[in-house]
Amino acid sequence: MDFSDPRQRAAFFAIHSDLPREGPGNGASTLRALAIAQPLPARPRVLDIACGPGAQTLDLAAALPDASIVAVDFHAPYLEQLRRRAEEAGCADRIETVRGDMSALDFEPGAFDLIWCEGAAYIMGVPAALLAWRPLLRDEGRIALTEAVWLRDDPPEEVRANWAEYPVMTDVPSVRARFEAAGYGLLGDFVLPPEAWWEYYRPIEARLATLASRYNDDPVAAGVIAEGHAEVECYRKYPDYFGYAFFIACP
Ligand SMILES: C[S@@+](CC[C@H](N)C(=O)[O-])C[C@H]1O[C@@H](n2cnc3c(N)ncnc32)[C@H](O)[C@@H]1O
Repeated sequence: MDFSDPRQRAAFFAIHSDLPREGPGNGASTLRALAIAQPLPARPRVLDIACGPGAQTLDLAAALPDASIVAVDFHAPYLEQLRRRAEEAGCADRIETVRGDMSALDFEPGAFDLIWCEGAAYIMGVPAALLAWRPLLRDEGRIALTEAVWLRDDPPEEVRANWAEYPVMTDVPSVRARFEAAGYGLLGDFVLPPEAWWEYYRPIEARLATLASRYNDDPVAAGVIAEGHAEVECYRKYPDYFGYAFFIACP
């Protein structure tokens, strides 16, 4: 997928708009990671980086009723979607949405008790993200992020090809080592369950089915849709070879 091509980009956002979430994850996993991150102060300040449409933002807001959350994303329509959802959930007064770049976040040092990032640290790379975000955390703060990992070291060629755009992907022990090298102490980690993938992929499959007929005569869009199908099929066929894992740590 070439984001610099406007037709591919348009097809990508025809798929990736108004979905409940934009990466593998589910409420149970968010809450499990949050439990590992405890204790937090009574009124924690939370930074949700690359919040997307905000599924995890809303789960955090519900689980931390006295928290205030700053949710950052690059893509303004996701922030609008999150604002709508927060209004519906009655927590809009505790969620501030900020359009921004995760690699140039403009907040006071030590401004946050908890930094959260589901499915997006790969954009900077985990080591760079851990270093860049550390100053935003207070000393007793916590960070929780998910990262794609190899679960086996013998993936079939089809699986390798599916992940070819992320060559620095590694396994759980090596991600732990990246946290340690960046000066963090790991509090826990776990691999996301298959349900977390299907919470992401089920709505995508439904969207791909809807779009297939609309883009019949557009080979560029049809190619993007085919890539979407291939990604879902790769997980359906090979769930034991790769996954996403949550890592929870303190500075
Ligand atoms: C895989 S999605 C994950 C979204 C959300 N956390 C979720 O799990 O539903 C990655 C998100 O990163 C955002 N993004 C991409 N580059 C970014 C950047 N440089 N700064 C901030 N957000 C970015 C995208 O707009 C998208 O919402």
